[in-house]
Amino acid sequence: YPIFAQQAYENPREATGRIVCANCHLASKPVDIEVPQSVLPDTVFEAVVRIPYDTQVKQVLANGKKGGLNVGAVLILPEGFELAPPDRISPEMKEKIGNISFQSYGPTKRNILVVGPVPGQKYREIVFPILSPDPATRKDVYFLKYPIYVGGNRGRGQIYPDGSKSNNTVYNATSAGVVSKIVRKEKKGYEITITDPSDGREVVDIIPPGPELLVSEGESIKLDQLLTSNPNVGGFGQGDAEIVLQDPLRVQGLLFFLASVVLAQIFLVLKKKQFEKVQLFEMNF
Ligand code: HEM
Repeated sequence: YPIFAQQAYENPREATGRIVCANCHLASKPVDIEVPQSVLPDTVFEAVVRIPYDTQVKQVLANGKKGGLNVGAVLILPEGFELAPPDRISPEMKEKIGNISFQSYGPTKRNILVVGPVPGQKYREIVFPILSPDPATRKDVYFLKYPIYVGGNRGRGQIYPDGSKSNNTVYNATSAGVVSKIVRKEKKGYEITITDPSDGREVVDIIPPGPELLVSEGESIKLDQLLTSNPNVGGFGQGDAEIVLQDPLRVQGLLFFLASVVLAQIFLVLKKKQFEKVQLFEMNF
């Protein structure tokens, strides 16, 4: 969950560029982000994050039963950009956003937004309403091109913040030896006893309900050999986009320059026509 990341990491983007959700959501799946090429200062715009997956598939839930997937995302905006206040979001945009609540990553991280978990059936496409900063009122913001980073996830993670595995991951043998006993527990899940044939030492590996067993009694196995299949159908992905914070004066300047070029060209043609008349006149004498 995004809250796990908020509690464990000051900054959701590591120095390597990796977004921290990937530390617990181990499978990689695509995400996509769409933002305008440029925005004017103090303007509300939308950033659309897509987290595609096949909504027919089911995942194992914490109790071992099967269920649908939820999605979540983190959006890392440039300094100064933030969530648009509700009174500035147009009704059309409100409709696209739906019933999602966005949180800032931390009290001092208003430019980083998190969402989720929300049902994936409805929110494979998440619309973030964003307000651009105004360099006139904020001295630390400039009219520049900025990067935007996004991380998006569908499905349950593989590791809890305390380091323990969830039941939505693969389990490996913690010792080499022979599988001497497999006990199926009443609430599903297994206890697998592995005996070392040389000294009779026993190790018990506990498999929670969820993953399917790949080994059977009497089989001899190596250290780290897979005991179960990997039930994970979800995954995390990250991406980026660029956005220009555009100075309206620059756009006006460009339009003025283009208009002056057009006028200059027209006047050159008129001047040529006039000169041709002079030439014609001179030839008649
Ligand atoms: C579950 C997103 C970071 C561990 C989830 C779910 C979402 C999500 C949407 C629900 C999935 C479902 O129910 O189908 C994210 C995002 C993260 C993030 C966007 C980064 C901002 C983390 C981190 C950890 C983690 C850092 C580990 C410390 C888990 C686990 C579950 C889970 C173990 C399953 C919980 C359960 O059902 O028992 N996450 N997550 N996540 N996440 Fe994350």
